[in-house]
Amino acid sequence: MICLICMMAALAVTGCSGGADSQNEPKLLLGFSQLGSESAWRIGNTRDIEEEAAASEVSLMLENANQKQENQIAAIRRFIAYKVDVIAFSPIVEEGWDNVLTEAKNAGIPVILVDRDVSGAAKELTTCLIGADFYQEGVMAAEYLLRKADSLGLEHVNIVEITGTEDSTPMRQRQAGFMDTIAQDSRMTVIESVNGDFLKSRGAECMRELLQKYGDRIDVIFSHNDEMTLGALPEIEKAGYIPGKDMIIISIDGGQEAIDVLKEGKINCVVECTPKLGHKLMETAFKLKAGESVDKVIHPEELVFSDEQDLTGIGPRGY
Ligand code: AHR
Repeated sequence: MICLICMMAALAVTGCSGGADSQNEPKLLLGFSQLGSESAWRIGNTRDIEEEAAASEVSLMLENANQKQENQIAAIRRFIAYKVDVIAFSPIVEEGWDNVLTEAKNAGIPVILVDRDVSGAAKELTTCLIGADFYQEGVMAAEYLLRKADSLGLEHVNIVEITGTEDSTPMRQRQAGFMDTIAQDSRMTVIESVNGDFLKSRGAECMRELLQKYGDRIDVIFSHNDEMTLGALPEIEKAGYIPGKDMIIISIDGGQEAIDVLKEGKINCVVECTPKLGHKLMETAFKLKAGESVDKVIHPEELVFSDEQDLTGIGPRGY
């Protein structure tokens, strides 16, 4: 909030810092509501958007909602009041946006969804979504597991799932993609799904509870992000198991720390989810300001990194 007020004052006095077409006129004024700072992924996403805004001479009003939907709604209202050219936001959960998005529509300000989706009627109030295909990420995680079970000759596989934030798009879609894919294989059983909220501390807590409850009955941990995986790994070791050997570990994101641990053999598979959405966001925002049409859904290309491959060539991840 303080950050926004300072920025508004600065804008009023000096014009936007991001460059100007004519005196005191920014090329484009973009309001972006980030949902929080829960993970290395999220921090990398924020940094990428800031860097791409600067490179495109976009004046960015960035607000961090600290994991609270009401803060995101308040930020969007401030962007409307300030008459930004385009609003972008990463909704923490899918429901609850109808009113504020109707207000943006009535103000004639186009809204871009970044990273996560909204559901129901609110969808029609947005122009497009720039973000990962989370369903496909769940499918790729499960396909890896099916191949791994074949290669190890496993007859029965007990899976525990540590999910991301309840009712968020990545949580819903990753789970759906994973479940739909393993449903075809009678060896696979999900013995429990627990909510780890995409946080490292919750990943550790969930893992402790799961180990107490199931111990060595756990064959696989499917964790919806690297942060929770990195929280869970020390708990597995403390309980006397070797992650990556006694238990198959599957993660999503592909941040540097998780890739390093994958190379050490303590994670078996990491499905990539790139936070680098800033370039597409700026490109799309300029098109919308110019009144051009844009694709309804823009998914980045994503890879799978696993112990099936030579991992030595993976370059620095940048998040
Ligand atoms: O919405 C993307 C997810 O949110 C990432 O997988 C996770 O790390 C982040 O917190």
